[in-house]
Amino acid sequence: MKLLHIDSSALGANSVTRELSAAVAGRWRESFPDIQVEYRDLDAAPLPHLTGGSLARADADEAAEAGRVLEQFLAADVIVIGAPMYNFSIPSTLKAWIDRVAIAGKTFKYTETGPLGLAGGKKVIIASGRGGIHSGAPTDFQEPYLRQVFGFLGIDDVEFVRAEGVAYSPQHRADAMAEAHRSIPRPMALDKAA
Ligand SMILES: Cc1cc2nc3c(=O)[nH]c(=O)nc-3n(C[C@H](O)[C@H](O)[C@H](O)COP(=O)(O)O)c2cc1C
Repeated sequence: MKLLHIDSSALGANSVTRELSAAVAGRWRESFPDIQVEYRDLDAAPLPHLTGGSLARADADEAAEAGRVLEQFLAADVIVIGAPMYNFSIPSTLKAWIDRVAIAGKTFKYTETGPLGLAGGKKVIIASGRGGIHSGAPTDFQEPYLRQVFGFLGIDDVEFVRAEGVAYSPQHRADAMAEAHRSIPRPMALDKAA
């Protein structure tokens, strides 16, 4: 079984999503000691924005890296993503990663009856952090967006571990983090897991 662990927060050691994504990945390691974990830090090593040059594969190094990003995504059984809310959505570094894994003919395709996701059978757990409180509100373009993207790729098993209102006060942050840690789902063997 393979786990891909991704972080995208720009707040380093002060990041709530980094703390939560590490806790989620750690729980999987404890439950499945043989699990193969790969880690990608999109803040420390951001991917380039998708441009016309990217689509034309003008830069061989960029195209090769994009291929590795896609392969790494396709190979993963479990994907843990630290995804803060930035400006009501996600960090642009995480969007740049999504632009490299949402590839027509590889992870989705269009048919006569509409789009079809090709990357099903994976589990995605998103460690979500936001300064304000947005659950169920029209201001949330982060979690519904991520659910939509992965659903479009055929991945319906998407869970959120959420700390929100962390900017309200230190006490709010401590309470939200304690609740988020308590809500971490228990790792379960996947049907396709070896
Ligand atoms: C650039 C930036 C933009 C942010 N935009 C929002 C926002 O639109 N709404 C919100 O509730 N919090 C916003 N925040 C607060 C973060 O969501 C909050 O700090 C959260 O903890 C981020 O997760 P992290 O600690 O893992 O980086 C923003 C923070 C940063 C640094």
